[in-house]
Amino acid sequence: MLYVRNRTIRVSPSLLAANFATMGHDAAGALAAGGDRLHIDVMDGRFVPNITMGMPMVSALRAHLGADAYLDCHLMIVEPERYVESFARAGANQISIHVEASPHLHRTIQLIKATGAHVGVAVNPATPLSSIYEIIDQIDTVLLMTVNPGFGGQKYIPQSTKKITEVRAFIDQHGLSAHIQVDGGIALDTLATVVQAGVDDVVVGSAFFRADGNLTAAHQALQAQIG
Ligand code: DX5
Ligand code: ZN
Repeated sequence: MLYVRNRTIRVSPSLLAANFATMGHDAAGALAAGGDRLHIDVMDGRFVPNITMGMPMVSALRAHLGADAYLDCHLMIVEPERYVESFARAGANQISIHVEASPHLHRTIQLIKATGAHVGVAVNPATPLSSIYEIIDQIDTVLLMTVNPGFGGQKYIPQSTKKITEVRAFIDQHGLSAHIQVDGGIALDTLATVVQAGVDDVVVGSAFFRADGNLTAAHQALQAQIG
């Protein structure tokens, strides 16, 4: 958790940047160091060019970390509705799907809700926010992509800031409960900007799993950026 004046900002360490050979250890370490939720990037080589991890990793982490760990699964896959139930069974607490990958978004949201998992809807940098306004009152998280999905370690796209401000205003004006999560290029140089623009949850990959492996120092460095 990060603290800024009268707000708290959730930190979701992205396991894509962890060491896959020591995943259980890294995931537990991220939570011990102050991470609130573990962000699990699922990529299929179709919706995005990369291939990463799937349900077996989610169930292995659930078994290793116990019931309290919050597993936030970001599905960057085509036809996500085919896998919603499997991810929920594997132990996902939240399932986020891409608006671009889900033509029957309303139906897929209901499918996720029926599993009992929280619902996130992700929006790519080039996708307008109007694509989610019809369903935003039904979801827990708006996942704004601040890079093009597919890879960790990319640079924050500056135009994203305007989008954060816009969705913050929409949520506040309509008295909605959806949280705003940002994903991609969130690091020491961009954190203050997104916090200022009104996010509730930051996904942090390469800036969290740093080369020196000191996750507590990584978390403290983030906090130091915002006071
Ligand atoms: C990108 C993924 C991100 C990624 C973020 O497609 O959705 O979650 O892990 O990594 P960083 O923080 O390194 O940009
Ligand atoms: Zn992600």
